[in-house]
Amino acid sequence: MKSKKNQNYPVITIDGASGTGKGVVTHRIAKELNWNLLDSGALYRVLALAAEKYHISLDNAPALTKAADQLDVQFITNELGIPPRIILEREDVTDIIRSEQIGNAASKVGALPAVREALLDRQRAFLQYPGLVTDGRDMGTVIFPEANLKVFLIASPNIRAERRYNQLKAIGIHVNLDALVSELSERDKRDSERLHAPLKPAANALCIDTDFLTIQEVVNQIMTEAKKFL
Ligand code: C5P
Repeated sequence: MKSKKNQNYPVITIDGASGTGKGVVTHRIAKELNWNLLDSGALYRVLALAAEKYHISLDNAPALTKAADQLDVQFITNELGIPPRIILEREDVTDIIRSEQIGNAASKVGALPAVREALLDRQRAFLQYPGLVTDGRDMGTVIFPEANLKVFLIASPNIRAERRYNQLKAIGIHVNLDALVSELSERDKRDSERLHAPLKPAANALCIDTDFLTIQEVVNQIMTEAKKFL
C-alpha cells in the first residue's frame, strides 16, 4: 500500500538504540515546543504484546501483519501532555510493554518488512499541527525522510545498560544488569543488521554522543538546532 504524502508541518526525528536517552529527550522537546509526540517503539512493543495475547508466533509474518493492520492501540495524552498512557484494546499497557522480554519480541516483529509496512501510515498520521517530535530507529531514514531536523543519539553499551536498568527499576521492573547487557546487545545486533530499515543515522543527521551529557544538555543542543528553522 502506498502511503499518503506527509503534511507540511515541522518534524524533528530522534533515532538511536535503547538507553541512549531518546525517549526522555523526545518527551522534553515535545513538551517544550508543545508539539505532538510519536513513540514509535511503543507501537512495535504493543504489537509484540498483542502477539503474545493472541498466541501468534513471532515468525508468523502474515498473522503479525494482519495484527499490525488491526491493532487497536491508543495514545492518551493527559493535560500535562506527556508521557501518554498507552491503551491496547481498552487495557492500559503503558508499563507492561517496557519489559526487556517485550522489547526483544518487538525487535523480532520489527525485523519483518510487511509488519513495518503495515505500521507506516499509522506512524505518519501522528504528523499534525503544530508539529511532531518522534523517536525510534528509522524515523529519519524511512518514516520522515523530509524531517526538518534529524538527530541520532549515541551512547556506549555499558552506559546504555545502566540507564536502562535505572529506567526499569523506576517503574518496578527488576532485572539483572549482566543479563540486560547481553539482551541489549542481542537486540542492537538484530536492529542494526536487519535488511529493512536498520538502526542507522540518516545521512544528514546531527549525531550526539550522550555518554557525558545530561538529558538537559542533549535537549539544549537539539533545541539550538531546532531554533534555526522554527
Ligand atoms: O525504542 P524501543 O526500545 O521501545 O523499541 C523496541 C524495539 O522496537 C526496538 O528494539 C526495535 O527493534 C523496534 N523498533 C523499530 N523501529 C522503530 C522503533 C522501534 O524497529 N522505529
